[in-house]
Amino acid sequence: MSHSDVPGAAAAGDRGAHPAWPGLFVSFEGGDGAGKSTQLVRAAAWIASVTSREVVRTREPGGTALGQVLRTLVLHGEDLDPRTEALIYAADRAQHVAEVIRPALRRGAVVLTDRYLDSSVAYQAGGRELGADDVERLSFWATDGLLPQLTVLLDVSPGRGLARLSDAPDRLERAGDVFHLRTRQAFLDRAAADPGRWLVLDASRSREELTEQIVARLVPLLAALPPAGSTLDPQAVRPRSVRGEAEGARVVSTPAEAMHPENAAPPRDEGAW
Ligand code: TYD
Repeated sequence: MSHSDVPGAAAAGDRGAHPAWPGLFVSFEGGDGAGKSTQLVRAAAWIASVTSREVVRTREPGGTALGQVLRTLVLHGEDLDPRTEALIYAADRAQHVAEVIRPALRRGAVVLTDRYLDSSVAYQAGGRELGADDVERLSFWATDGLLPQLTVLLDVSPGRGLARLSDAPDRLERAGDVFHLRTRQAFLDRAAADPGRWLVLDASRSREELTEQIVARLVPLLAALPPAGSTLDPQAVRPRSVRGEAEGARVVSTPAEAMHPENAAPPRDEGAW
């Protein structure tokens, strides 16, 4: 099913070259341990250093108070039927979009989310083998058709990604090699089908290289935004020069995103920036 087949998506008018909001919506996707949270933090810092636009960092599941309850249920609760799991992720997403993402985009903010709808299609449709059309349609209904203008895929082999994790594995991380191989393939297939929205990166490249590629893709998107009391300084496209939040810039984190271990402190090897 193509996106234009989704009634809710078409009606919402929130996608395409001229979305119905003045902000920019970017999602970061990938397998567990791909390093997307680190890249999200670095991208947010870079954006804040070149524009005075509000930058909102958030994540799924758990970008709202309700989402944090749902996150505990779905990641650390008892075994769930795959359809129940899909519905919980969709409910988390519905509240996240309504409470955090859409209002921020309407304010003209740049919203960076650690996982979004494509995670459901990859994990619940690919991994759990629920139908891709059904899972996508459910999420489109939950979000009234909201898709990011850019989705960054940090592609990593499951073996390598899971080996990078230090905490005890959650329910999804324990789902097994075959599950994670299907999930990875679903991400790659989805990206290949819509190259205009996706940026696929090999997560084994250096952190600096990855940030540079993400920044290169962000520059034209930021430059195309309607004014929000800020201007993009194209001379500043040097991610290694970014050391944190620029003076006067606003980087806002949703509670769960701020609680993420990667974000409680600056990225571990920040000295390399
Ligand atoms: P999290 O600890 O946030 O993992 P990560 O740091 O890799 O993002 O856990 C989120 C888990 O939930 C992760 O294994 C992917 C899974 N997930 C889904 O299965 N479906 C979804 O729609 C989303 C958003 C996440």
